[in-house]
Amino acid sequence: MKSLLPEPPEGLTYEDVSLFYVGVMPGDENRGIVPYYHHRILVDSADVGHINFKVGDTDHVRLYAGHVGFSVKPVYRGHGYAGKACRALTPLLARHYDDVILTADPENLASRRTIEGLGACFENEVPVPLDDPQAASGSRFKRRYRWNLSKVPRFASATFGAANVPESPQANVSLA
Ligand SMILES: CC(C)(COP(=O)(O)OP(=O)(O)OC[C@H]1O[C@@H](n2cnc3c(N)ncnc32)[C@H](O)[C@@H]1OP(=O)(O)O)[C@@H](O)C(=O)NCCC(=O)NCCS
Repeated sequence: MKSLLPEPPEGLTYEDVSLFYVGVMPGDENRGIVPYYHHRILVDSADVGHINFKVGDTDHVRLYAGHVGFSVKPVYRGHGYAGKACRALTPLLARHYDDVILTADPENLASRRTIEGLGACFENEVPVPLDDPQAASGSRFKRRYRWNLSKVPRFASATFGAANVPESPQANVSLA
């Protein structure tokens, strides 16, 4: 099946974090959900979490979900891997946008610190409507930040080299 979006660059890497491309996941037009790139976050071949990049500008994305979503498995938290994964993703983000929206629940301090650590600028805090998919996962308010990619020091040490992927990536990664 033809992908909904072009292939991402290979070997997205920042410091000890590399991204393993899993695929493009389809959207759901009726719910404002747009197609998104799904990458696993790898450190020394260990799958520590995932990062998603939604390509589209529905209200759901711009106001509540944000363009980029990430999660680090609890055992691997505390090393700033989510922020590094965001930086590793910048070559792909910049193919589509000059700036992206990142959001966090007000009470999610780790997510807020991660976003602020990128240098993203706080825009506002908005209530999440009950019919938005984010409300179903418990979000009542979202803090919105704009991350201007032109201000990211030319992708810092993000590189396009070969990704540090596990020997049998399909066996080690999941969509969870
Ligand atoms: C958000 C998340 C990805 C961050 O994981 P991580 O990259 O391991 O982040 P860290 O634990 O290294 O913390 C990042 C920053 O938040 C700070 N932080 C973490 N927990 C915190 C807390 N409870 N209170 C205050 N600050 C906290 C850290 O001190 C660090 O700050 P620094 O950059 O100034 O040093 C992880 O907590 C997670 O997966 N949460 C569940 C999923 C989620 O909420 N995703 C975000 C929504 S898209």
